Amino acid sequence: MRKAPDFERMKNDGLPISVITCYDYWSARIINQTNIDMVLVGDSLAMVMHGHKNTIPATVDLMVTHTESVLRGATDKFIVTDLPFLSYRKGMSQAIDVVHRVMEAGAHAVKLEGAAGNLEFIAHLVESGIPVMGHVGLVPQSVHVLGGFKAQGVTEENAEYILESAVSLEKAGCFSVVLECIPATLGQSITNRLKIPTIGIGAGPHVSGQILVLHDLLGLNDEFKPKFAKQYLNGLDLIKRALNDFDDEVKKGAFPTDIHSF
Ligand code: KIV
Repeated sequence: MRKAPDFERMKNDGLPISVITCYDYWSARIINQTNIDMVLVGDSLAMVMHGHKNTIPATVDLMVTHTESVLRGATDKFIVTDLPFLSYRKGMSQAIDVVHRVMEAGAHAVKLEGAAGNLEFIAHLVESGIPVMGHVGLVPQSVHVLGGFKAQGVTEENAEYILESAVSLEKAGCFSVVLECIPATLGQSITNRLKIPTIGIGAGPHVSGQILVLHDLLGLNDEFKPKFAKQYLNGLDLIKRALNDFDDEVKKGAFPTDIHSF
């Protein structure tokens, strides 16, 4: 299993890092049998698993339950869990209780969004032995401030803000930082400026690693098809075909046969 310090070594050695979201036991078991380097129990589970319009309804209880399920399946993977909306903005003591619960559930690291207002908390977590992943650019928990799920860093001023945020996250002790939906040139500048690895999602090819949402990669999501999400499988069609084959055979009396009967 890879450990937090391995990822900076991978960046130094020019080895790209692959990260995938995972929310449940059965997909964790599949991912565990692959070469994927890191797993994120993302708060995107609010949308993908629970049908919400954004990540804001994710709760600490949900993140804990999903982390426990992922841990049972992805026994050989480095697991990062997202801290949900506002859970780390209610004062140091409450925020630490949240991290405590997530780490007890089996996470090896936590991820949180943005730098402003989080740096002291991040430094405290790192001093307390908890690896922290940062997240800048399109930070979905701030969807209402950003005015939607839109590319960030397109003006010079905002690009500078994102770059400085990433630098401050490194200074606070983050072991890596997610760059979401920013111009490829900005992804490259941040990656060159930082020692820690950058994990891109819609941040172009010149970053230290890439993350995708599992359900986007498998083609299971027909509601939301972001430009950056490459589909490696038409999972939706495959699954629908299998279910319709079952339905067809049940209705024709072709299933079960003797092989499936006692
Ligand atoms: O919640 C999530 O899945 C994420 C990734 C898309 C980076 O934050």
